Amino acid sequence: MAVIVLDFGAQYNHLIARRIREAQVFCEVLPFDTPAAVLRQKSPQAIVLSGGPASVFGEGVPLPDVAIFSLGIPILGICYGMQVMARMLGGQVSPARKPEYGRRTLYKTGESVLFENFPDETPVWMSHGDQVQAVPPGFSILAETDTTPIAAMADSERKIWAVQFHPEVSHTPLGSHILATFLFAIAKIEPDWKPADVVQEAVAMIQRAVPKGRALVALSGGVDSAVAAKLAEVALGERVQAVLIDHGLLRQGEVEEVEAAFPDLDLVVVDARREFIDALQGVSEPEQKRKIIGRAFVDSFDRVRERLGLADVLIQGTVYPDVIESGGRGAQTIKSHHNVGGLPEHMRMRVVEPLRWLFKDEVRKVGSQLGLSDNLVWRQPFPGPGLAVRIVGEITAERVALVRAADRIVREEVALVDPDHRIWQAFAVLLGIQSVGVMGDQRTYAHPIVVRVVNSEDGMTADWARIPNDTLDRISQRVVAEVPGINRVVYDITSKPPGTIEWE
Ligand code: XMP
Repeated sequence: MAVIVLDFGAQYNHLIARRIREAQVFCEVLPFDTPAAVLRQKSPQAIVLSGGPASVFGEGVPLPDVAIFSLGIPILGICYGMQVMARMLGGQVSPARKPEYGRRTLYKTGESVLFENFPDETPVWMSHGDQVQAVPPGFSILAETDTTPIAAMADSERKIWAVQFHPEVSHTPLGSHILATFLFAIAKIEPDWKPADVVQEAVAMIQRAVPKGRALVALSGGVDSAVAAKLAEVALGERVQAVLIDHGLLRQGEVEEVEAAFPDLDLVVVDARREFIDALQGVSEPEQKRKIIGRAFVDSFDRVRERLGLADVLIQGTVYPDVIESGGRGAQTIKSHHNVGGLPEHMRMRVVEPLRWLFKDEVRKVGSQLGLSDNLVWRQPFPGPGLAVRIVGEITAERVALVRAADRIVREEVALVDPDHRIWQAFAVLLGIQSVGVMGDQRTYAHPIVVRVVNSEDGMTADWARIPNDTLDRISQRVVAEVPGINRVVYDITSKPPGTIEWE
């Protein structure tokens, strides 16, 4: 085990893990209060304390086990991680007179291994309201900004280092260099981790979780579940039962495509369309929809498991951004992803998530390594709750049919101008309103469709795609002509943040 990141809940903590892996070092993210004894057992070569939304002055402040500072393992604190370290080791933290958000200039104030061969001044990304006022005994100050007198500190004897800024974000141009210095020069880690190791580890994890019997792997139509299913197949061979719950909220042609993609897998398609639609009747609130769908999934899985006499294990393709956005401990819940926060507690199956620490592009690499076809590896992400999160307001069979028909057209047209799969997702959203139009001299009063096309690296941030006007024009004409009930097409020009990719 190379590096453990203790997660204090910052929205962008995933980037720390990602940068460490990009430096070819394996890294696991654990809750902030993981006991030192557990950490010692895992024998990491370094520990990183992440940032987080809390203030060290708040109620019920998230604190790590103080014993981690005596393990003799090199530690790097980032932002909140630095403040909590200062507070626990006898330094002083106070609310900053001027909170710093955004780009600042960092000035080196002394020589240190961390900033060796570093320019005297360099841009860094800040995001904090509190700051360290006095370093703990044994620490020295390494850098400052115009308003933060202690922007980096270290006790090099005890190998404890800390930075107030965020080296993990791309707005800190030398951030990866700083992380690499910590990993290689300070913690003396060998960069020998490869994505191929993920396959081995995931396979071993699945084999450990399912020593005997047949396990259920859930397919949803997106790339994550396809890769998880392939891993399960490699790990368990014929001891895998793949299940696709047809909740009636899948895209057009989804069932057939999944069946065609896994000719060798024992796949059961469960027709649960009636149950899901009934359970969702009259429900408009997005989180309630997600929770209902999560519960209906669990019920369906439980029934299939009993019917087929499977082991009580569910293998699914949860990826890291799902974990974070569902409010992984300390983080704010943005949405309950059905395969994480949306699953009810009474679920009787153990959930195994071999991709839990990976980002989508990493998942795609794993998929390619496993020999999945390009077609499958480059499938767009598709949310577990399916079209339900693309229908604003109540879900009815008619409204599902509208959004499904429009979605097919959007995907078809975008695919024509995106042969290299640069677009992250392209889909249609049905709004809960109507507007006036005119068709063939007749007044219409029908539904608008929102076209959402985004570019993204990992789904955590996204930008709306500048697709050709001609494509937008064709989408608009086709949707209105081919989907009765739609008389208007609008294009969503919101990035994430402040928007999210899906509308619910
Ligand atoms: P948002 O809408 O949160 O979406 O910006 C980020 C990415 O995650 C997908 N998504 C989901 N995937 N279960 C999933 O497996 C879910 O409940 C879920 N909700 C959103 C979304 O399609 C986008 O790619």
